[in-house]
Amino acid sequence: MTSARTGVGVGVELTDLTRVYGTVKALDGLTLHIEPGEFVALLGPSGCGKTTALRILAGLDEATSGTVSVGGRDVTSVPANKRDMGMVFQAYSLFPHLTALQNVEFGLKVRGRDRSKRSTRAAEMLDLVGLSAHADKYAAEMSGGQQQRVALARALAIEPSVLLLDEPLSALDAKVRSQLRDEIRRVQLEVGTTTLFVTHDQEEALAVADRVGVMSQGRLEQLAPPAQVYANPATPFVAEFVGLNNRVPARVEAGRALLLGATVPTLDGSIANGQGTALLRPESVTVTADPAGTATVKSVAFLGPISRVYVELPDATVLDAQLSSAAARAFEPGARVTVGVEPTRLLVVS
Ligand SMILES: Nc1ncnc2c1ncn2[C@@H]1O[C@H](COP(=O)(O)OP(=O)(O)O)[C@@H](O)[C@H]1O
Ligand SMILES: [Mg+2]
Repeated sequence: MTSARTGVGVGVELTDLTRVYGTVKALDGLTLHIEPGEFVALLGPSGCGKTTALRILAGLDEATSGTVSVGGRDVTSVPANKRDMGMVFQAYSLFPHLTALQNVEFGLKVRGRDRSKRSTRAAEMLDLVGLSAHADKYAAEMSGGQQQRVALARALAIEPSVLLLDEPLSALDAKVRSQLRDEIRRVQLEVGTTTLFVTHDQEEALAVADRVGVMSQGRLEQLAPPAQVYANPATPFVAEFVGLNNRVPARVEAGRALLLGATVPTLDGSIANGQGTALLRPESVTVTADPAGTATVKSVAFLGPISRVYVELPDATVLDAQLSSAAARAFEPGARVTVGVEPTRLLVVS
């Protein structure tokens, strides 16, 4: 490890937080525990309360009820400037009249660190994010991605107890976004700072986090490692929000779902018996060429390595099937096919 690592992270406990704005309940009993050094991504649609949760953890907003503890200490009524949080926002938060290095030094200056230590530390942090060569540039001379790297270096320079990132990638274009996403994770692993990363982008959350907390309407629906959130969604909301889902009529009998001529086990949270709706991921739909098939290919969308094949069933339901582009090449619009289901566990709701 480099000198960037300043110690193990601290645990964070948000307990039963509510935040009411007039008639809006931005948070409605949010409980979220983050382990020391852990990287948690809070994922949810716009308006579900992610920013409110982050601001309350930072001390920039006050909860209507509930508690915030950091490193085992109740900080619910501690002001923001005494909480030592490093923050990175959506974009354009650098001071335009300061260079990259001066931006990174800023927090250290405010905290009264002496000049030589400040510039050594700031240079180290710029090095950590790969921007040593840009130390003397102003924000206007840097790309959006570079500016966000400086913002990350600035947030980490003060050796924060917790690093908070609120949609830090959403103003960047797709390629830079995935590069910087991986860069943020690399840096976080290197420094070991407990991190809360807020995003509405499921791919982003799944790619970076130790655990993903899926939020809906001011509450946490599930908190689990990415693979588990994906394979074992705890609620229909999680199943639908994390991954596009097809809705297919299914019958449940003794813990097994019957649909599209297949029988597959059901996930916890499914109905126990009777008729319901299965949530089926595009990659779990199989498509087989079959001149006697009752389903018809409507269209094929090429997405590089994978393609989406839209198939219409006899009841006019259209299923979204994800195939490798090599496999999808066999299907033309109008082709007769049979669809099936990969043998994965499915959530079946009423
Ligand atoms: N300062 C505020 N005044 C009034 N309503 C607010 C305020 N901040 C947030 N809200 C409302 O609280 C809800 C949650 O907002 P927010 O935490 O920003 O969601 P997210 O970050 O997930 O998009 C939204 O309905 C939003 O309109
Ligand atoms: Mg927000």
